[in-house]
Amino acid sequence: MKTHISPTALARDTRFNRQTSEDRFTDPRSTMEVGHVDPMAEDVGDRARRRMHGIFVGEIQALEGAGRTAFDFPAGDDYANGEIPYELKLDMARQCWDEARHCEISIKLAEHMGGELGEYVENTMLFEAACHNDPVFRLAGVNRALEGLAIDVFTQMRDFGRETGDPVMVYCEDFMLADEVTHVKMGSKWLRAVTENDPERRKSALEFQRVVDGLFNFRGQRGEEYESPIRLARQFRKMAGFTDGEVDVIAEAAAKERAAIEAEQMAASILAE
Ligand SMILES: [Fe+2]
Ligand SMILES: [Fe+2]
Repeated sequence: MKTHISPTALARDTRFNRQTSEDRFTDPRSTMEVGHVDPMAEDVGDRARRRMHGIFVGEIQALEGAGRTAFDFPAGDDYANGEIPYELKLDMARQCWDEARHCEISIKLAEHMGGELGEYVENTMLFEAACHNDPVFRLAGVNRALEGLAIDVFTQMRDFGRETGDPVMVYCEDFMLADEVTHVKMGSKWLRAVTENDPERRKSALEFQRVVDGLFNFRGQRGEEYESPIRLARQFRKMAGFTDGEVDVIAEAAAKERAAIEAEQMAASILAE
């Protein structure tokens, strides 16, 4: 079987509609307004279904990414030459099992909310972060940045279920959240173990994580305020091995991006007057 497959090789049937990353980031609808699953918004049902579909395709790619990391690298202790601990592979296999369960939960939850598979587009940015040639970068980009985003999103959707009185959503999101904390923890643990004697590699991997975290801020949508379209779940992130300083860095980067976008919008509205 081939190792290191490209995102174009992912198996999908005709129900899925692929969107390029370029389209995603230039889509004017990906703004704070449509991204915020606000219970008071008039179109809250559509917003929540779109978010749920995004979670579902994210779960498929998380499954595929963890599967690739379990398979793409040989087991051994020659970390400098691409080998990884056998126990790391076992953790990735366990993660596949969790993500497969999340795929089932997510699509059933999407249907429970009145949505259906293929109703919204799929972007493969998440899997792309799992295509790095260095397994340590995958741990940083996928298990810490991407799975960290899952912690934020599931905490927020669990709270949304509480606010809207939907116990099915609360239970589903809470169960998945517990798994995602474990996945981030695995990333923190193995990143530290594999780079124990290689501080340069650790530093570069954490820089890569910051780049991926920057992309997952989705043009400044993450923050700690209630009205943030994606709320940072500081407490659960800390349970998963993030330091307060690391959460601060994500929050500050998002706030900076948000301020730049707001300044841009204000300038545009002044010019339009
Ligand atoms: Fe998941
Ligand atoms: Fe996960």
